[in-house]
Amino acid sequence: MKTLLILGAGKEQVPAITRAKSKGIYTVVLDMNPQAEGLKYADEYHIISTRDKKSLIDFVKNCDGKIDGVITIASDIPHMVSKVAEEIGVKHIPIEAACLTVDKLKMKEVLKKAGINVPPFRKINSLNDLKKFINEYAYPVVIKPVDNSGARGVLRLTEAVDLTWALNESKSNSRSGDVMVEKFLEGNQISTEGIMYEDEFYITGFADRNYEMLEKFSPNIIENGGDSPTLLSQDAKKLVNSEFEKAVRALDINWGPGKGDMIYSNGRAYVVEIAARLSGGNFCYDHVPLGTGVDIVDAYIDMAVGNSINTDCFKPKFQRGVAQRYFFPGIGKIKSISGLDKVKNMKNIVKVDFFIKEGDLIEKQSNHTTRVGYVIAVGKDKNEAVKFAEEAVKSVEFTFE
Ligand SMILES: Nc1ncnc2c1ncn2[C@@H]1O[C@H](COP(=O)(O)OP(=O)(O)OP(=O)(O)O)[C@@H](O)[C@H]1O
Ligand SMILES: [Mg+2]
Repeated sequence: MKTLLILGAGKEQVPAITRAKSKGIYTVVLDMNPQAEGLKYADEYHIISTRDKKSLIDFVKNCDGKIDGVITIASDIPHMVSKVAEEIGVKHIPIEAACLTVDKLKMKEVLKKAGINVPPFRKINSLNDLKKFINEYAYPVVIKPVDNSGARGVLRLTEAVDLTWALNESKSNSRSGDVMVEKFLEGNQISTEGIMYEDEFYITGFADRNYEMLEKFSPNIIENGGDSPTLLSQDAKKLVNSEFEKAVRALDINWGPGKGDMIYSNGRAYVVEIAARLSGGNFCYDHVPLGTGVDIVDAYIDMAVGNSINTDCFKPKFQRGVAQRYFFPGIGKIKSISGLDKVKNMKNIVKVDFFIKEGDLIEKQSNHTTRVGYVIAVGKDKNEAVKFAEEAVKSVEFTFE
């Protein structure tokens, strides 16, 4: 029996834990939170922070060659996964590549040098630096921490936004305190995902991201789900995928997963960033399998523990419309949530989930981690799936105290 170490036991790692178990793999799971939902599915778990490098290394040193592979999904800790995997001596994304992808500035520098299309960007140390960039490139621009995720501290700046506030807000969401600025690119926002296996890059995920709430939550950039198949033409899709693969190779992700935040703007494909891990927000374990039948989590688990895989698994088995939408019910202490049973029984709704319950306080939407719940719908095409998802969102009613 193979043993897989999974870093993280939050909601988003549950699909990795349960998938590995269903394949007859022994799961060892680490999380700092004793209440983490995934712990109950693990064969064995230990309370260790997945960002505490020393404790992780000490842990695996005591495992005596028992572990065949290490993964996470959705959690932005590819550098920890790679360091632990190297210590054990199992397959992983090169540590340097993983470290690059958790530093948005260094990542962009490498991509730019390799000739990949990225938005104009610059590190900023002061308000003056920010103003200078805006003078050069004009509004709108995006300010962001160089080293966080979930759109924390990612702000779209227009004339209406106070720059001193924005700089402080972004800095306060930066682990290192470093922030950068980019030109905001107008265009189609796209999620892509793939995996490098024996020097072939298999792209399995491609979806249109929904930013209809951009003005509502301004200056925060909050995504309201995504849909597939894409509305882009086959040519545009090819262009995006080609830039995505070039970026993955430029960063030297020579084995394992890569997730792209891409933009198609004025006939060109741009990279906003590449993550050296599988996606969060239900993309790799719900959206793509529902839309095409491709289960990249399953393949990644096999790759991680050293099983051989049949690359046919990366080919779409069917094509179906999928749409995910989030609930944005407003701010306040929730008195009641109603209509949920109706939504659960709608025939095209395949999943509905909340991260909050009655009595909880919903605060201002400031990043992707403060979204309160979502629905996923399927349909014969994208439009039908979107229609069902939007209907479902409207059917749930929140009242506040
Ligand atoms: N320069 C830009 N032009 C247009 N949109 C952008 C730009 N930078 C960021 N965005 C949008 O904001 C989102 C969040 O930015 P970014 O990916 O840099 O931050 P993050 O913290 O990694 O967020 P997430 O974890 O959601 O990807 C991007 O996925 C993209 O949709
Ligand atoms: Mg991102």
